[in-house]
Amino acid sequence: MPDATPADAPVFRPGLLDGQVALVTGGGTGIGLGISELLAELGAHVVIASRKAEHLDAAVGAITARGHRASAVALDVRDHERVKAVVQEVAATHGRIDLLVNNAAGNFYAPSATLSPNAWKSVLEIDLYGTFYCTQAVYPIMAAQGGGRVVSTSMTLHYRGWPLMAHATAAKAGIDALTRTLAVEWAPQRIRVNAIAPGPIPTEGVRKAFAPPADSGVPDLFAAAEEKMAEYARTGIPLGRWGTPRDIANMVAFLASPAGDWITGAIFVVDGGEWLAKPPM
Ligand code: HXC
Repeated sequence: MPDATPADAPVFRPGLLDGQVALVTGGGTGIGLGISELLAELGAHVVIASRKAEHLDAAVGAITARGHRASAVALDVRDHERVKAVVQEVAATHGRIDLLVNNAAGNFYAPSATLSPNAWKSVLEIDLYGTFYCTQAVYPIMAAQGGGRVVSTSMTLHYRGWPLMAHATAAKAGIDALTRTLAVEWAPQRIRVNAIAPGPIPTEGVRKAFAPPADSGVPDLFAAAEEKMAEYARTGIPLGRWGTPRDIANMVAFLASPAGDWITGAIFVVDGGEWLAKPPM
């Protein structure tokens, strides 16, 4: 897996997001951290929300050590009252919220026939309910300040069948629907609502979530040997490499910038062409 890719090169002008305030859920690790780092590099103050304090401290420390602005807030996006309180707190402290990135997600492989109600509920609540709670909570702030942007994390796995992922595919399909509906409903308030569907990006969280049950017959691509991983990237991803958090962060920065000013209700697939080329399972 390459450490540096063309997408890691700086592409946006310094100071592009100066004075802006961004709230990134699940922003302490993986793709969320990549998004937080780039937004901060471009001048935004990034409030990183995560369930786990150790992720928050490390992420904020790394960003502020480079001279950028970031702060932390403990948040489980399933907790509606806490979401409202956190959003109010961020707005009171910083005076505004320009960008919400709904990145927090929880997924795992499980046979649908045996999925417990609580397992189903856990993933729906983090991925879909959490996205709605956070988006609804920023609405009054963005409406009052004359506009804002919401970018949510979707995926491509629900475009076709994805065995053992009924909960996650249902949640992400819901996020797509929410994105399109809110884009139209909140356009008069100049709140642009978009989503990004990332392809395979082998972060630690994804490796854990996508380790299939041992007897399921589903290949564990991420746990395969490096050589096999490289082979999948060459043969399974038309653009010939795994994604990186920076690939997704670049799309978020684009949507946060004036370049995204006439874009709403769009779901951007950023996956090296993977889902179009994926053979049937
Ligand atoms: C079956 C499972 C399970 C598994 C959990 N459960 N893991 N069932 N197979 N592998 C069930 C539990 O038994 C329980 O049901 C219920 O789910 C809740 O589990 P808890 O561990 O108590 O919940 P909680 O601590 O809140 O954890 C939430 C979680 C967990 C979603 C279950 O996996 C999590 O926190 N994940 C966050 C990190 C993560 O998943 N990151 C990956 C995101 S990557 P019972 O009935 O026993 O009470 C991603 C990329 C997608 O989304 C695109 C990739 C290409």
